Amino acid sequence: MHSVQYSVRMQDYVGIADQVAVEIETGRLRPGDRLLPQREFAAQRGIAASTAGRVYAELVRRGLATGEVGRGTFVRAGRPDRGPAGPAESMINLAYNFPILPGQQVPLADSAARMLRPEPMSAAMEPVIATGSAAARELTAAFVGRAGWQPRPADILFTGSGRQAIAATVAALVPPGGRLGVEALTYPVVQGLAGRLGVHLVPIAMDAGGLIPAALAAAHRKSPLHALYLQPTLHNPLGVTMPPQRRAELAALLDTLDLYAIEDAVYAFLRDEPAPLAAHGRDRIIFVDSLSKRIAPGLTTGFAVVPAGLAAPVAAAIASGAWTATGFGLQAAACWMADGTAQALAEAKRADAAARQELTGATLAGLAVQADPAAYHCWWELPVPWRADTFVAAAARLGIAVTPAAAYTVSPGQAPNAVRLALASPPLAGLAAALQSLAGLARSSPDDLLGS
Ligand SMILES: Cc1ncc(COP(=O)(O)O)c(C=O)c1O
Repeated sequence: MHSVQYSVRMQDYVGIADQVAVEIETGRLRPGDRLLPQREFAAQRGIAASTAGRVYAELVRRGLATGEVGRGTFVRAGRPDRGPAGPAESMINLAYNFPILPGQQVPLADSAARMLRPEPMSAAMEPVIATGSAAARELTAAFVGRAGWQPRPADILFTGSGRQAIAATVAALVPPGGRLGVEALTYPVVQGLAGRLGVHLVPIAMDAGGLIPAALAAAHRKSPLHALYLQPTLHNPLGVTMPPQRRAELAALLDTLDLYAIEDAVYAFLRDEPAPLAAHGRDRIIFVDSLSKRIAPGLTTGFAVVPAGLAAPVAAAIASGAWTATGFGLQAAACWMADGTAQALAEAKRADAAARQELTGATLAGLAVQADPAAYHCWWELPVPWRADTFVAAAARLGIAVTPAAAYTVSPGQAPNAVRLALASPPLAGLAAALQSLAGLARSSPDDLLGS
């Protein structure tokens, strides 16, 4: 009886959230608009205040609105599922990092042309398993290896994307109801997939060197964790990189605690060093990478370098979760890695990221922007009296999508007063214009733009 009532109420709030989503979709509610206070919304719809709270939380979860209790909820710019252009073609997207260089489709098409013959096409039609093919494993091991670390081809598994590799490894390591340690600010997709897998996230404190090992030990002592997910290099969103000594310390601690860690290295190709965490603890670390940033989000394939002892459970999770790569995708990835197309594009993106970062540093000079010169994103602690949510809403009114710190924060209500700027998506001229507008916005008063 109880569960029936619960599911009816669930449907109620999801249905109402759908209605508001339609209003946003159709432009009746525009980026930057403030939604009614929850009590008024509840009265208008004839629903309980708690249901209104759930509706607003659902809109925030879907990336459609931004807000904190007591500070108002605003329509966001840039739907995550709408691609680089966001809801309106004119919107400048600094919310999602989609690095695609002008003209890069030409070498990609030339390289993959080899696939468009009967023999490789028949091979691509076969069902794919997590271990892919011996040739793909060899190529991938050489491709993701770097100074100080060379993975074994036998340890490589494939998925459709980096996100799927994370999902599969979390599913393999953490049972439903289990606990996954994550950096206190983390990649939002991990929060979403943990929710789907019934996994509880435990935030671990960070400092300028990334995750703090002593904080991990304390969290594990308090209530044991099943695994850890982290980004030791060019952390998204903070941009920090863990120094080698701390990597060694963390790897030793993982051994002592008998814990596995998932090292997300999707952005790590942008820096030469340090060697991955996996170099310090081959048997403790699952290294996850993908082609999404080096090549393009729509042409991604995911890679996991998995310790031998975990190969079977992770491969089983990839299969049962339906996270396997496609034959076509895997063959294309192999083409691009085999003839150097992927390496050349990665090199070009490193130069692109550095140029974008330089432009950002120059345009936002004097503001509290924290960034690694190699990264495709930066973290901006906003000047008083701006609040992240009102800044995001005001930026949306200027046609610029940025992401509030709350999107990355695991503990609700503890978001820093900051936004992340993703620098990769717009053309350089659009980026320059958007950064100038944001600098002007930060120096103006929130009241001028949003009213009360
Ligand atoms: C930290 C991090 N990991 C993984 C990914 C996703 O990789 P993929 O697009 O291959 O799923 C992203 C994409 O934005 C990311 O920011």
